[in-house]
Amino acid sequence: MPHRVVQWTTGNVGRRSVRAIAAHPELELVGCYAWGDDKVGQDVGTLAGIEPLGIQATRDVDALIALAPDCVSYNPLWPDVDVMCRLLESGIHIATTAAFITGHGLGEEARARIARACDKGQAAIFGSGMNPGFANLLGLVSAGICDRVDKITVTESVDATGYASAETQQSVGFGHPIDHPGLHDMVERGTAVFGDGVYMMADALAVDLDEVRCESDFAVATEDHDLGFMRIDEGCVAGVKASWHGLVGGRSVIELRVLWKMGQHMEPDWPLEHGYLVRVDGQPEVRTKLEIRPPKGFEAKSFEDFMQLGMIITAMPAINAIPHLCRGAEPGIRGYADFPLMTSAGLVSA
Ligand SMILES: NC(=O)c1ccc[n+]([C@@H]2O[C@H](COP(=O)([O-])OP(=O)(O)OC[C@H]3O[C@@H](n4cnc5c(N)ncnc54)[C@H](OP(=O)(O)O)[C@@H]3O)[C@@H](O)[C@H]2O)c1
Repeated sequence: MPHRVVQWTTGNVGRRSVRAIAAHPELELVGCYAWGDDKVGQDVGTLAGIEPLGIQATRDVDALIALAPDCVSYNPLWPDVDVMCRLLESGIHIATTAAFITGHGLGEEARARIARACDKGQAAIFGSGMNPGFANLLGLVSAGICDRVDKITVTESVDATGYASAETQQSVGFGHPIDHPGLHDMVERGTAVFGDGVYMMADALAVDLDEVRCESDFAVATEDHDLGFMRIDEGCVAGVKASWHGLVGGRSVIELRVLWKMGQHMEPDWPLEHGYLVRVDGQPEVRTKLEIRPPKGFEAKSFEDFMQLGMIITAMPAINAIPHLCRGAEPGIRGYADFPLMTSAGLVSA
């Protein structure tokens, strides 16, 4: 019997989740939540840019719970703790990309509520994505050949110009005046889920952290940029660096760094690595680089088309977790350390 899945929203990531669920031999799409009124009543396949699937998107949360799905694929712009708790209390697992790895970034009160909801419904929640998420797993795997680990650093260094989610970009400082006094706080709030990533890695490494801390830096646009879905004017933030450190005895042992640029003209014009890099300091030192490239025959008419690859790599770590969650995961907030190796089982082309 396939695992019954409800998709939560059909934005950039959600549309790729719908496609992946529809194509997955172990999963069956049984419902879809729509946040936007314009999407209510529309066929989910059509919303995802594929053939109609005979399932209409709805805003009716009770009706979706009444479907008794095994799992929700949760990809809204912002997580809604009330809704997450209702789903978990109803015994529905959640595989999410929406600002959740361990839940620390949502605050201890929200995290405790989610843990209680898992307990009540005997359900599990697993958060991932490309980064945080899979990139952190890559860091853990890379350090698995060392007999001493001093520090694991995971860096995402990408051009984010084509990531058409204005609210997400603005929430981490993009487009705000470079002298805006709240820029660091915005980055700290907007990237808090990377702090979750630090906790998840520490848990997997059996490390007790004394502190998790965020540092930030910014590049300023030297020309106006109209990106279509948002503007970045001269004098406003066009580059963001954030580093989340996990410290033991005053020393950073885990560092999750992001370097994001939007537009072409900024100062400083930080060089990009165009991918995900792991550096393990220890014995031996290890360097791992994950590059994402279009497959043969992939037609990208625009940069936005190319960004579809970014949405696939965000959606799939959560989608690939769904069979594991549904096969009787231990209730609670779960991380990579709680599951056997998650692979793309079922997705190998014939
Ligand atoms: N870990 C990672 O690697 C990673 C990478 C990228 C994104 N993410 C996260 O994944 C989630 C989805 O990203 P995305 O790019 O797909 O986002 P998005 O397209 O901007 O928004 C997703 C959906 O959220 C709903 N929505 C729009 N405005 C909203 C609001 N103000 N409040 C609540 N919901 C709203 C809409 O649902 P309808 O479609 O139903 O109208 C929208 O399509 C986000 O939480 C994002 O931070 C994680």
